[in-house]
Amino acid sequence: MPTVPLRDRASWKALEQHHAEISGRHLRELFAEDPGRGERMTAEAAGLFLDFSKNRVTGETMRLLLDLARESGLDERREAMFRGDPINTSENRSVLHVALRMPKERALTVGGVDVVAEVHEVLDRMADFARRIRSGEWTGHTGKPIKNIVNVGIGGSDLGPVMAYEALRHYTRRDLTLRFVSNVDATDFVEATRDLDPAETLFIISSKTFGTLETLANAKSARDWLVAALGDEAVARHFVAVSTNAERVAEFGIDTANMFGFWDWVGGRYSMDSAIGLSVMLAIGPEQFAELLAGFHDMDEHFRTAPPEQNLPVLMAMLSVWYVNFFGAQSIAVLPYEQYLKRFPAYLQQLTMESNGKSVTREGRAVDYDTGPVYWGEPGTNGQHSFYQLIHQGTRLIPVDLIGFGRSLNPLRDHHDLLTANVFAQAEALAFGRTEEEVRAEGTAPEVAPHRVMPGNRPSNTLLAERLTPRLLGALVALYEHIVFVQGVVWDVDSFDQWGVELGKVMAGRITPELTGDQEPELSHDSSTNALIRRYRGLRQG
Ligand code: F6P
Repeated sequence: MPTVPLRDRASWKALEQHHAEISGRHLRELFAEDPGRGERMTAEAAGLFLDFSKNRVTGETMRLLLDLARESGLDERREAMFRGDPINTSENRSVLHVALRMPKERALTVGGVDVVAEVHEVLDRMADFARRIRSGEWTGHTGKPIKNIVNVGIGGSDLGPVMAYEALRHYTRRDLTLRFVSNVDATDFVEATRDLDPAETLFIISSKTFGTLETLANAKSARDWLVAALGDEAVARHFVAVSTNAERVAEFGIDTANMFGFWDWVGGRYSMDSAIGLSVMLAIGPEQFAELLAGFHDMDEHFRTAPPEQNLPVLMAMLSVWYVNFFGAQSIAVLPYEQYLKRFPAYLQQLTMESNGKSVTREGRAVDYDTGPVYWGEPGTNGQHSFYQLIHQGTRLIPVDLIGFGRSLNPLRDHHDLLTANVFAQAEALAFGRTEEEVRAEGTAPEVAPHRVMPGNRPSNTLLAERLTPRLLGALVALYEHIVFVQGVVWDVDSFDQWGVELGKVMAGRITPELTGDQEPELSHDSSTNALIRRYRGLRQG
């Protein structure tokens, strides 16, 4: 059924009018008028408590935003995803990352195949492999146990595993060294392997397509590195693959018996809970990996069944739509107050921007509204001493998600209370600021007062959980996956393709031989690219 264009939807028009009425209102007033809002504008699921009261909304705004979600077809589209319909229309694929974390006893038949049974077959093989590596039963070519695991992959085949490994470091076997190589810049590979003993090192070549230039280049260098030390025969004990493409894996020289598969219905950026998470499973063990999956599933079930008024992904997505489309916000900052989540914002960059960085609708019409905002962030409190100034007093509206925890995994003196005080202080300062009157009352000289005024009215969500566990991490990642889904439904874009990345890849393939041949190439690019290629050829010759 063709979707009504966004701007023509009745709820959109109602929101436009409502925005005109309330956009000038300050959070100070909204809180003064309604002292109960801090307790009421909250929701909780899968171990995550959300306080969304410090947003520039009233009950009426939320009602209209949820109307927009409904009118955009959220219920039908969500059902279609969970059913396995090919909702990735430009690639005619199902989008079934939710099946990756369904419990064994569930069945989901798509195209005559029970995908949940397939998922668990791979999970069982991964668990068996992880037990063999972790127990020392699987040895390297010289008989030494594996001590080092190097995941080679990029994009979704890297960011999820790196983020989850860092996030769950507390739960990892500390006698195993995990490294992640992604960049085609050789420095990445060289630095990651320089202190490793090849006889104790396992490479996991992770690539959905097994055709990604960066990953294949690094995989070849990894093979050279290993073969130089241990010989050709060592490859079988030191290389495994995670891919959907058995043919290419075999072509590369990895025995497909040592390949862990997944399926074309898992998007790269939605794949950390598939076999792409093998490195994470090796680090934390199969039981904790099962907990991670259970957390994803907790949030999936919440997203699928909770009413919109209490549905965390729906609420957070619709708030982001409010700021992007009605306040013109260009970016959203995600600020975890948990050092272990230091790579979470980087992970979210791919998840959110590769998904919703689109400018045509699913039917191919150019949009006449903004879509995916820039997501960015850093762990607190470091960000506070860096870019928060702009969020507090700059000219742009930047909604923020603050993520805090009740307990530290590394309790030490009063560090955790100091950390958490900052979560609450930032949300409070952003919302309420400091008026000129207040500043002057402190005795500030009149000429300095304007510099010290904090406008406030800067929106934030606060997410609070007890402590960072594998299960909680799963729920947190699934929360953002579903936020992206809901945004995509409203903006009517295909959140699951990434054609924009392709052109650059094709052009790089064309330029590479022009950089390296002995003969001066005939260049037919624009004058800038031609000149840069010529200059580079001169530089590389030294
Ligand atoms: O960046 C584009 C992309 O296709 C991502 O979507 C994907 O996660 C990444 O490249 C890596 O692809 P692959 O797993 O096939 O190597």
